[in-house]
Amino acid sequence: MIQASTSEAGATKLRRFNEVPRAGAIESLRGMLDPRHMRALITKKFEDRGLVSIHGLGIMRTCTLFGPDANRLVLHDKERRFSARRPWTQIMGHVFPNGLLLRDGEDHKHHRKIMLQAFKQPVLKAYLDRMNPKIAEGIEAWDQTGANGRGEIHTSDGQLLAFSAIKKLTLDIATSIFIGTESGPEADQMNKAFIDMVGSSMSILRVPIPGLTYTRGINGRKFMIGYLKKMMERKRASQETDTFSRLCHAESEEGGTFSDSEVIDHMIFLMMAAHDTTTSTMSSMIYRLAKHPEWQDRLREESRALGAEHAGFDDLDNFEQHTMVLREALRMYPPLPAIIRETNVEIEYGGYRIPPKTMVSIYPIHTHYMPEWWTDPEIWDPERFSPERAEHERHTHSFIPFGGGPHLCIGYRFAETQIRAIMHQLVLRYRWSIPEGYEMPVLEAPISKPLDGLPIRLERIN
Ligand code: HEM
Repeated sequence: MIQASTSEAGATKLRRFNEVPRAGAIESLRGMLDPRHMRALITKKFEDRGLVSIHGLGIMRTCTLFGPDANRLVLHDKERRFSARRPWTQIMGHVFPNGLLLRDGEDHKHHRKIMLQAFKQPVLKAYLDRMNPKIAEGIEAWDQTGANGRGEIHTSDGQLLAFSAIKKLTLDIATSIFIGTESGPEADQMNKAFIDMVGSSMSILRVPIPGLTYTRGINGRKFMIGYLKKMMERKRASQETDTFSRLCHAESEEGGTFSDSEVIDHMIFLMMAAHDTTTSTMSSMIYRLAKHPEWQDRLREESRALGAEHAGFDDLDNFEQHTMVLREALRMYPPLPAIIRETNVEIEYGGYRIPPKTMVSIYPIHTHYMPEWWTDPEIWDPERFSPERAEHERHTHSFIPFGGGPHLCIGYRFAETQIRAIMHQLVLRYRWSIPEGYEMPVLEAPISKPLDGLPIRLERIN
C-alpha cells in the first residue's frame, strides 16, 4: 500500500472507505447543483466530516479531500497515482476531447513538451507586443455607450458591464493571438460556440436532442472544428506567429510533433482554458478595486511611474502592487474552484484508505480561505502576498489557483502577463466605481463569474 503524506491528519488508525458512512447523493451533488454557494457547502462538509468526506453517488465512489496536504498529494503526483484524464473526460470529453488536461502519464508528458514550445518566454514577449495595441483599441470604447455598436457592454443608464466588456476584449485578443484573425462576425460565432461548449460540460441530460444544452455544445464544437480546419493548410504552409501556427510547427526536443486533428483539439481546449479564466480573474480584480479605491490608486501610481502607455514583459513582472492585487483576486475568487482526479491505486489520507477508481475532488476555493494558512481570510488584503508577509509560502500547496504538478496550468505566465497588461492600461485611462454597499453576486462554479455582469461607473482620466 502506498503511504500518503498526512501531516495535517496525523492519522494513526486507518479506516477502509467502505466502512465509513457516506454523505447522500444530494449532499454530494449540491456543490454542482448550487454553484452560487459552492464554498459555503464545501466548508460545511469540511466542518461536519473533517479532512475526508466520502460521498455516495449510486455505484460511483467519490470523495473530497481537504487542506494543502491533500492538494500536494493529489497534484504533485510524481508516482502517477491519479488520473486527470478519466474524470475530466467524463465531464467535458464530449466537447473538449484530447485536450492536454484530458491526458495522463507518458502521453500527457509527450503532448505537453510539444505544446510548451508555444509558451516559452520569447514567444510570450511576442504575444504581448501584439496584445498591447489590441488592448488600447479595445478599452478605448468602454466609456462610449453604444457609440460603436457595442451597446451590449453597457446598461441602459450608461454603466459599463465590466464582465461582458472584458469577455469581449479577451476574445478579441484570443482570436488575434491564438488564431491570427481579427475580430468580426466569426469571432462572435466563436464566442457563442465556447459559451455553448462550456455550458454543455455541465449538462446533466446528455442526449443529442436539438435545443438541449448538451447538443448546443456538440454543435459549438462542430463549428470550431470546421473553422480551424479551413485554415489548417495555410497555417501549416506559413510561419505566422499566432499559437495556431506555432502548434502546427512545434517540435519537442525528442522530435515529437502534432497531427492536424491534435492541433485542432489542443487549440479548442486552449482557447476555452484561456478565455473564461482570465475574464473571471479580471472581473474579480475590477470589483475589488472599485470597492477599495485606495488600491486602485496604488496600481495607478505604479503604472504612472513606469511612464509608458504599454508595459513590456519585464515591466509587468516588476509590478509589485499589480501582482499582489492579481494574487489576492485569485485567492478569493479562484476561477477554477475545484480540481478533480480519479485514483489509479489505493491511496491513504486523513486516516482513510481510498481505493482505486475513486473520484477525488480538491477545492482551491476552500483551501484559499483556511484560517490555519491565511490571516483573516475573508478580508481583502493584497499585502498578504508582499515579500515581508508572503502568506502563500506558508505551505507549498495552500495557494493553488493554477493547480500544480504535471498538470500545472501551462498558460499561467500568459495569463499573468495578459491580465497585468490590461490592468496597466485600464488604470491609466479610467477611474471606476460601484455604488456604496454593492456586493458582487458570484456564480462560483464551474468557472467563477459575476452573475449581474458587474456594472461599474467609468470616468476617463486620460
Ligand atoms: C487566471 C487564469 C487561469 C487560471 C486560474 C487557470 C487555472 C488552471 C488550473 C487550476 C489548471 C489545472 C487543472 C487540473 O489540474 O485539473 C489549468 C490547466 C491548464 N490551463 Fe489554465 N488557467 C488560467 C489561464 C490559462 C491560459 C491563459 C491558458 C492558455 C493560454 C491555460 C491553459 C491551460 C491548459 C492547457 C491546462 C492543462 C495543463 C495540463 O494538463 O498539462 N490556462 N489551468
